[in-house]
Amino acid sequence: HRNSRASEPAPHYLHRPVSDRQVRLSVVVPTRNEAENIPTLLSRLGGAVAALGAEIIFVDDSDDDTVDVLARHATDAPVTVRLLHRPPSARAGGLSGAVLHGARHARGEWVMVMDADLQHPPESAGRLADIAMRHDVDVVIGTRYAGEGSTEGLGGAAREATSSWATRLAKSLFPRRLTTISDPMSGLFAFRRAAVDLDGMNPIGFKVLLELVVRHPGARVAEVAYEMAHRHAGRSKASAREGLTFLRHLGRLRSRRLVGQMRERPAAARDRLPELIRMVAFGLVGLTGLVVNTAALWFFYEPANLHHLLGAALATQLSTAWNFVLVDLLIYRRTRQGSRAGRASRFFLLNNLLLLLLRLPVLQALVWAGVGILTSNALTLAALFLVRFLINDRVIYSP
Ligand code: GDD
Ligand code: MN
Repeated sequence: HRNSRASEPAPHYLHRPVSDRQVRLSVVVPTRNEAENIPTLLSRLGGAVAALGAEIIFVDDSDDDTVDVLARHATDAPVTVRLLHRPPSARAGGLSGAVLHGARHARGEWVMVMDADLQHPPESAGRLADIAMRHDVDVVIGTRYAGEGSTEGLGGAAREATSSWATRLAKSLFPRRLTTISDPMSGLFAFRRAAVDLDGMNPIGFKVLLELVVRHPGARVAEVAYEMAHRHAGRSKASAREGLTFLRHLGRLRSRRLVGQMRERPAAARDRLPELIRMVAFGLVGLTGLVVNTAALWFFYEPANLHHLLGAALATQLSTAWNFVLVDLLIYRRTRQGSRAGRASRFFLLNNLLLLLLRLPVLQALVWAGVGILTSNALTLAALFLVRFLINDRVIYSP
């Protein structure tokens, strides 16, 4: 929940040998029931990142004694260790939520995310961070699918196949963004904090990195290969349910991406009917308007006995109103802009200009030449169809 972020608790310090000002790298480690892995992780990771000016932020959703083990071993580490334990009522977003929570409280210029079960060898992670911090990039991904990387430690052919198909699926859904990214599902990655809008991210499930790269199309990405190791102790939290969450996450990312793309174009341009349809519809509306106009002119000219030019002018006001309602409602309903009164006055202005400058003179000429008044009137209306369509379409209702 976005509003709760301002007041969300910050991880507290278990050990602080590196002052906040010296911290250049924040390693965020999400943990859920990883007590047996903590001692080894702390000693190996501490050694691997000590030279980089690091803090390790644990964001813990455990029900076991991970917190106690952390508190006991943190003081031996050569780096700052911080911990946030989220009670069962505050475990929003699971793994992803934990990672983002940690990242929002990071002090370093760089944030690295890694697992606690030693599948991401701390020495490889340290190397990745070191490379990241020495290059002018925004995101560095630990990849198992390029160079010397391997999925050996995933633990079985089934998991390897799942991982590889999930990767393919993601790449096919985001072909452009993921062309140069070999391992968008990686749980080991680092990013420059200033280059990432954490509040614009809203991942569910395990794939934080996928969310990050899809949401930041401009980010400069590099990859560093690593060999995934076997889980040191304890059990994986991956499940069939996580698999479904992943599919939901993909769907959400896709639709949001489309929403994002659509926002870039004006809504009006997106919703326009095709031009040919607009023109045909305009013509059909014009035909009904022609009937209205002719009937009105007949009325003004015959029973009302007005001068034919005055009759034509009055008839035009009626048919213009008629046309405006239909055009505004049926053809440009989804794309019209501004106020109805504004559109109506432009519509009337256009039709009356055409009336005064073109239709009435031609009408008079035709009458002098002996053509009937109703026929002459209809001819002048029909002749201006294209002009009226173009001015309406390109000016009055331009997107
Ligand atoms: N705070 C918190 N909350 N941490 C969690 C949660 C949770 O709900 N679920 C899992 N974790 C922690 C675990 O304790 C571990 O440190 C890390 O997240 C990864 O969890 P694993 O259970 O070991 O997941 P995995 O090995 O199946 O998946 C890893 O590899 C995938 C690629 O194959 C993760 O790194 C995935 O992100 C990655 O996509
Ligand atoms: Mn794991």
